[in-house]
Formats: sequence, C-alpha cells, structure tokens
Amino acid sequence: MLIRRPTDIPASEITPRELYLNRRQMMAGAAGLVLAAGSAKGIMAAPLSAAKSPLSATDEKLTSLEDVTHYNNYYEFGVDKTAPAAHAHTLKTSPWTVKVDGLVAKPAEYAVEDLIKNSALEERIYRMRCVEGWSMVIPWVGFPLADLIKRVEPQGSAKYVAFETVYRPPEMPGQQSAFPVLEWPYVEGLRLDEAMHPLTILAVGLYGETLPNQNGAPIRLVVPWKYGFKGIKSITRISFVEKQPATSWNLQAPDEYGFYANVNPDVDHPRWSQKTERRIGEGGLFVKRRPTLPFNGYGEQVAQLYSGMDLRKFY
Ligand code: MTE
Repeated sequence: MLIRRPTDIPASEITPRELYLNRRQMMAGAAGLVLAAGSAKGIMAAPLSAAKSPLSATDEKLTSLEDVTHYNNYYEFGVDKTAPAAHAHTLKTSPWTVKVDGLVAKPAEYAVEDLIKNSALEERIYRMRCVEGWSMVIPWVGFPLADLIKRVEPQGSAKYVAFETVYRPPEMPGQQSAFPVLEWPYVEGLRLDEAMHPLTILAVGLYGETLPNQNGAPIRLVVPWKYGFKGIKSITRISFVEKQPATSWNLQAPDEYGFYANVNPDVDHPRWSQKTERRIGEGGLFVKRRPTLPFNGYGEQVAQLYSGMDLRKFY
C-alpha cells in the first residue's frame, strides 16, 4: 500500500468456481497425495455449509476464486500481490485459538473449530474496495462479529474493539525482516457500534470452503464499507478497550490512513484519487474504471453510524 502507487497489472485468468473445484476433486481422487501434501502444509480446505444471507450483494458478478486467492495483501508474507499465495502455506493454522479479553464480563479463549461449530454460518457476498484503487466481489463465509461480542458481555466502559494478528516470525517471513514494512503484530480496531453492526463479520471461509491461508486463515475480519486494510487477517486476540486503539496503517503513515478508513470517494489519498476503482477480473489496463460509491455502496445501512462527524477530518 505504502510502497508504491497501485499498478494496473493484468487480471489473472478467470477460473469459474465449478471448474476450480472439479479440478481440485479430480486431483484428490487421482492422487490422495495432493491433498495430503496440502494438509501437511496446513492449507487443506474443508467445505463449510452456510445459509445464504439476505445482506449479500447478489447483483454483482463474483470475482474469480483464482483472483481472490492470488491477488492479495498480507505483508507478513511479502509486499507483492502474489507473495501471500506463494508463501502463506508456512503458517500453521491448526490448532488456533482466539483470546477475547479486556472490558468484558466473560473473557474467553475460543478454539476456532468451536467458533465454527457453534455459529450460524452465512454466505455474505460483499463488494470489497482496497485503498489502492481496486475492488473485488467475494462470497465470504462467516458469522456476525456481534454474535461473539454478545457472548462475552462488554462492560459499559468498552467503547472500542482492538484486533491482533498472530505474531510468529518463524512462520511469517515478513516479520523476520530487519527493515519491517509495518510494526508487528498487525493490529486493527473498530468503534464498538461499528463492530456490532450486522454487516461486520468474522470470516472463516470463502467460496464455500475454509479460508485459504493467503486470505487470513483461520479467521479474519470483514467490514465491507471500509477500505480493505481494516480486514485484519489470522486474528488471535480481540480486546475490548476504552480508548481508540492503534491500527497498523495509521501507525505507519498517519497522514495517509486514518482510524475510520470509510470508503469515501470525496477524500483523496494524499498520493492518488479515490474517485474511481478497477474491478479485478474486468479485463486489462484500458477497461473503464468504475466510480467508487460512498461507504462502498453500503451507505444506506451504515451512514447513520457517522451522523454529525466530519468524515474529511475522521478519514
Ligand atoms: N492483515 C494482516 N495481518 N496483514 C496485512 O498485511 N493487509 C490488509 C488486510 N488485512 C493485511 C491484513 C489489506 S491492505 C487488505 S487490502 C486486505 O487484508 C486484503 O485481503 P485479501 O487479500 O483477502 O483480499
């Protein structure tokens, strides 16, 4: 994000989901070895059954699974878009626990499999908009963050929710660098009412299967009206706090990335405009960019969270 202005690289070949899954199954059938090897690396996908959510943006064409899983930002595995798909298999995602602590009546430590088992999983098709000027439409599988928040019973003094990614340098090459791009671990935060909003989910899968490592396995945040960097990956800790928590990109470049990070075409990034976006998979360099919508098109549902706030100041 910080490294350079976004480049319009040609979108990779589109593989429809059925084709991709068939190919996977064929490989599994022909040689159990393929899946066994994947499993050894901790990257075997498992199917997830999920109800279709009425909150889905079903009028949009899905971005191909190939693009969703091979055009990523996950700086713990490198700064190139292709680096997470190439390197994220080194992260061991099982066993995995998420600690929930801070200003709550019932602090807890959850095994991710229990969270998956005990949650009503939904498929949420969301438009996603990156601060770099590109967008995707992704069929996430997850559950409302509000469900988890209600279980731990936040105290009245809890005003914000802070999130933390795992810190494991041996498994995450970007965390070993002598000149790190970001301070580790990656951290993010939401105001409590943003965290409780029904559109905010903890995703555990996409395209009907558990999350690939490069997309934030085993559990990550998805907030569709904010720039993608709010969607912290591979979460190990969720803390309820009184004061606005630090966020990774704001720590790194406070003039460029604010705490709120609501998609706002009227507030330019200091180094480029946010007025338009390029939908990944819609052809090459010369395809017309789309106008970016306020709150990424979710304004009707979320604008009231910010009534009375100057969103140029609180960018
Ligand atoms: N979470 C962690 N831990 N590390 C990261 O580098 N990158 C963010 C966000 N979450 C990031 C992260 C950014 S900049 C974006 S755009 C989204 O993840 C990308 O999510 P995706 O690769 O699943 O599309």
